[in-house]
Amino acid sequence: MPQKPALLKPSKAQVALWLAARPRFWPDFWRRTKQNIAGRMLPAPMGQGREAATAWAQDIAISEADALSRLGLPIAADMATAHQNLVARAMEIERTSAETLGGGGGINLIFRICEALRATTVVETGVAYGWSSLAILASIGPRSGHLYSVDMPNPMLRDTGLTGAVVPKEMWDSWTLVREPDYTGLRKILRSLSQIDFIHYDSDKSYLGRAASYRALWPRVRSGGVLMSDDITDNTAFRDFAVEVEVPPVVIHSEGSGSAGSRYVGLLKKP
Ligand SMILES: C[S@@+](CC[C@H](N)C(=O)[O-])C[C@H]1O[C@@H](n2cnc3c(N)ncnc32)[C@H](O)[C@@H]1O
Repeated sequence: MPQKPALLKPSKAQVALWLAARPRFWPDFWRRTKQNIAGRMLPAPMGQGREAATAWAQDIAISEADALSRLGLPIAADMATAHQNLVARAMEIERTSAETLGGGGGINLIFRICEALRATTVVETGVAYGWSSLAILASIGPRSGHLYSVDMPNPMLRDTGLTGAVVPKEMWDSWTLVREPDYTGLRKILRSLSQIDFIHYDSDKSYLGRAASYRALWPRVRSGGVLMSDDITDNTAFRDFAVEVEVPPVVIHSEGSGSAGSRYVGLLKKP
């Protein structure tokens, strides 16, 4: 099989040009322009970068079992055990796909949380191959739940039809996928939702992009519901948001899915 090209990370200028060429994405284009200016004006110690965020996460990280216990959630079977065939199929699809998409979230943890919460209404940002979507749908499907996802495809991709490729077609009836930037896509999704059981955040990794989406999503999380954010060591947005909403953050060094490596993820449980 020919070598698959590595994931190309677009520069800020490439994303800006891609958005500017699509009038329906202009609201996000303007948001980013303003964000770039505002980002330079954040007072210290807010808006710190990778070094401060990593030191903080390393300091407070605990095991997955301890994290679930601290959140008061029972430990359910994990995705790999409960849905061995779905996971094997997904790995094969990722392995043989023509292009490299963004790294998969931790399906075992995501599945366990959805199971423990008996989740039926779930929102996620960032789909790529759809590992996290697969784990969520595998859990909420039997409870007739629904997943709402937002994903703006990487502008460097040739085939945007690969978004959600690892999710079997029969699961798509329980899935609304909005193929837009978070900024406009989440507004559409949140228009019809008042109570969310679980949120998985894995899209725009910039400080102000995260801050804006966390703030939009958090008020809709039901009491006892959970917000999980991936890659929290990119910057201190997750740490700062936990302080803002006065909720003790739970941090895990967690495995990724498919070809993705491990990373720090953060969890907040709504009081
Ligand atoms: C790390 S991948 C998501 C992986 C996925 N959660 C999984 O478990 O397979 C990030 C995805 O978010 C998308 N993305 C990046 N910035 C975005 C934005 N501002 N709005 C919406 N999607 C965005 C990327 O194009 C990519 O598809």
